Amino acid sequence: MAERETLSSRLGFILLSAGCAIGLGNVWRFPYITGRYGGAAFVLIYLVFLVILGLPVMVMEFSIGRAGKQNIVGAYRNTEPKGSKWHIAGGFAVFGNYMLLSFYIPITGWLLYYFLSSLTGTFRGMGTEEVGSFFNTMLSEPLLQYGWGFIALIITALIALGGLKNSVERVSKIMMGLLFVLMIALAIHSVSLEGAHDGLMFFIRPDVGNLVEYGLGESLFAAMGQAFFTLSLGIGAMSIMGSYFSEKRSLTGESVRVVCLDTSIALLSGFIIFPACSAFGIEAGSGPSLLFITLPNVFAKMNAGSVWSALFFLAMSFAALTTLIAVFENILAYWMDMRGYTRRKATLLNIVLFLFIMLPCILGFNVLSSFKPFGEGTGIMDLEDFIVSNLLLPLGSLVMVIYCTSRYGWGWKNFLETADMGDGLKFPKKIRFYCAYILPLIILFVTIRGIIDIIF
Ligand code: ALA
Repeated sequence: MAERETLSSRLGFILLSAGCAIGLGNVWRFPYITGRYGGAAFVLIYLVFLVILGLPVMVMEFSIGRAGKQNIVGAYRNTEPKGSKWHIAGGFAVFGNYMLLSFYIPITGWLLYYFLSSLTGTFRGMGTEEVGSFFNTMLSEPLLQYGWGFIALIITALIALGGLKNSVERVSKIMMGLLFVLMIALAIHSVSLEGAHDGLMFFIRPDVGNLVEYGLGESLFAAMGQAFFTLSLGIGAMSIMGSYFSEKRSLTGESVRVVCLDTSIALLSGFIIFPACSAFGIEAGSGPSLLFITLPNVFAKMNAGSVWSALFFLAMSFAALTTLIAVFENILAYWMDMRGYTRRKATLLNIVLFLFIMLPCILGFNVLSSFKPFGEGTGIMDLEDFIVSNLLLPLGSLVMVIYCTSRYGWGWKNFLETADMGDGLKFPKKIRFYCAYILPLIILFVTIRGIIDIIF
């Protein structure tokens, strides 16, 4: 059997994991839920959840991968007690990757389309109505969306075909570097716009009144859900990185770095979006309209708006593509590890599969728009997002936490030994009780609350 691929460097591991985490959740979901729940006070709560929830789960997921040395199904199989069935959770995790990409690929296609449209000056001089109808026209055209989704898929597949070290790792490093440069430039530009002050204050000065007005419970829940989504936890997308990583560095220290990178991109998005909206007197909208209607509107009014818009959508495309690349790699690893496929065969098979899997999301905006799973204004994409964000990510994380802390699973001792291999920050042993009892309860609460919210 061919030797299993590994990453070439520690930097590659950190940036590939950060690339997997950094995506639409940071540049789109984070700013709009921050807008909805009242700005800075919400950001503070979110940061707390990243530390108490996201961080420990990430260390556990990396550790399962490091010890199991395979994709998530194989990693469970290689570490579970003989005769137990924990690997079934791995099957759900793989399904979660497919489900995530079912809407992630079309949205990445939208971003690439917006990038090209900005570059060619399409939005220049457009009024609010026209920008809105540009977006709605795109949604109403399945072929246009499918074509751009196809481009996103092929870019991802070509990068995957080039191999782990020489292509996936290398390209992700370059895209992440460019993403940071672009985001910093865009943020500096936004905060220095005349009239940016109010938007900036909304984002950085906590106003507890805002939170209370919206309901503390709902804000807490939204912050917890976001912590899972933004870190791509619970579907084995992080454990695969652990399986490719050397044993020279401890996983807690590396997780802290990944979480910090992820958070800095989310915060930079806020610094780009809120000041720019307030500078042009435009209300920061929520949902898809924030990126695809509000911001093009802002750029249309800006000096050299086409340039800023093109840079912005290029940055967004990089953020989304690095997640696509990492999650696609995780899917390939499943086929290579479990079914013995070559990288090439696994890639070709998955191109074909995704040509079908991305269809429902796209058709949900046009041909199948009469299907409204959660009522007026919702579509198939919302259903797919719900299955991933509200079910598979938190439940997958819950299983991982129980697996790493229970003696019926892999167990605390094995987990600690693996997490703490190598130099760097060690996992705090004193929080065993928290990890074994409180953390699962919090996750369960988030999940049940999310389901109830959606249904009622
Ligand atoms: N973690 C990925 C994101 O934030 C799914 O978009």
